[in-house]
Amino acid sequence: MEAPHSPVAETAAASVRLSVDSPEQMQDLGRSLAKLLRPGDLVMLTGELGAGKTTLTRGLGEGLGVRGAVTSPTFVIARVHPSLTGGPALVHVDAYRLGGGLDEMEDLDLDVSLPESVVVVEWGDGKVEDLSEDRLHVIIDRVVGDTDDDRRVVTLVGHGVRWADADLAATSA
Ligand SMILES: Nc1ncnc2c1ncn2[C@@H]1O[C@H](COP(=O)(O)OP(=O)(O)O)[C@@H](O)[C@H]1O
Ligand SMILES: [Mg+2]
Repeated sequence: MEAPHSPVAETAAASVRLSVDSPEQMQDLGRSLAKLLRPGDLVMLTGELGAGKTTLTRGLGEGLGVRGAVTSPTFVIARVHPSLTGGPALVHVDAYRLGGGLDEMEDLDLDVSLPESVVVVEWGDGKVEDLSEDRLHVIIDRVVGDTDDDRRVVTLVGHGVRWADADLAATSA
């Protein structure tokens, strides 16, 4: 069975679509998503430049209670935000400048940090899927022809057993 919204459907278990109408709402979504996350989770963020991937990650960082502001680093590809509350660290990867080459990706040693962290990757499509069969894929789209510049449609797709029973719909509350 294929989930209706899933672009990569073979292991898609659950999918939820949300309307997010402002940067504040995007950050709130990150905060509520954070409640679902635990060490070892990989979150992939897909969306064009300015879609709101970093804004969502900022909310994730707040929700996880990690140190340091989540930003769009110009030169840094991955930044580790340690937990201030004894929870998992947030590893924030912006793979925009990484070529498709897995070598550069491997240099980041994400497989080493993943078991004890929450790894969030912007621009990771085609680069990080090998890290884990279990992934939460967050796809952020602008609505074509929408007159509201601030409106986004966010699709959450859980891949693998980790997300099979997850209550993704809880994030829309
Ligand atoms: N609904 C929304 N969700 C997220 N960002 C929004 C939204 N509406 C407007 N924005 C603006 O769009 C920009 C998103 O930037 P950013 O989060 O850095 O995107 P990305 O990391 O995907 O390139 C910010 O300037 C933000 O204020
Ligand atoms: Mg970004």
